[in-house]
Amino acid sequence: MKFFIDTANLAEIKEAHDMGILDGVTTNPSLMAKEGITGTNNILNHYVNICSIVDGPVSAEVIATDVDGIIREGEALAALHPNIVVKVPMILEGIKAIKHFSSQGIPTNCTLLFTPGQALLAAKAGATYISPFLGRLDDVSTDGLQLIEQIRTIYDNYQFETQILAASVRHPMHIIHCATIGADVMTGPLSAIKALAKHPLTDLGLQQFLADYAKGNG
Ligand code: E4P
Repeated sequence: MKFFIDTANLAEIKEAHDMGILDGVTTNPSLMAKEGITGTNNILNHYVNICSIVDGPVSAEVIATDVDGIIREGEALAALHPNIVVKVPMILEGIKAIKHFSSQGIPTNCTLLFTPGQALLAAKAGATYISPFLGRLDDVSTDGLQLIEQIRTIYDNYQFETQILAASVRHPMHIIHCATIGADVMTGPLSAIKALAKHPLTDLGLQQFLADYAKGNG
């Protein structure tokens, strides 16, 4: 299972990269705004900066919602760096654009995906990744993990190569359940990734080992 980090914060991306477990990065316009990155040039430069830290796919989201605009914007994003993945919203104009990008060999991430039908459409258009937002479904009392399971079954039934990128991950149990289901990738905050390492028995055991060593070795 690949681990992507869902942030535009360069320090967090560097920290995750230094842990040695980071496979890629996802961003969205809200995450860019959170870091105070505004204006086309600054936004484009920021993507290049992210690509210089992590050697893996970096999702950069288009703002346009018409097919021509999405294609224009996506091609400009893809030209920034070979690791850029063009993130396209799950709308019909987006599906047309994904089909175009797929024919040009430009990788895509179909975002804001909430149903198995949307996942089927995106795969048929040739999306490289789809991003089902499991946390946002959980937020409205709908089972986000069940959606990931359904998509896994559909993709396996027809050997679709589109990768399931479980997005809107909120906590370590989301990551564990996604790995159990067989999501190809997960993207979430660094805090959820770091929480995977935590267990009180690990801390207690280490404390004991160090204390016993100190007794015998001064
Ligand atoms: C996906 O790529 C999105 O950037 C993201 O995972 C959304 O997560 P949120 O629901 O925590 O905002």
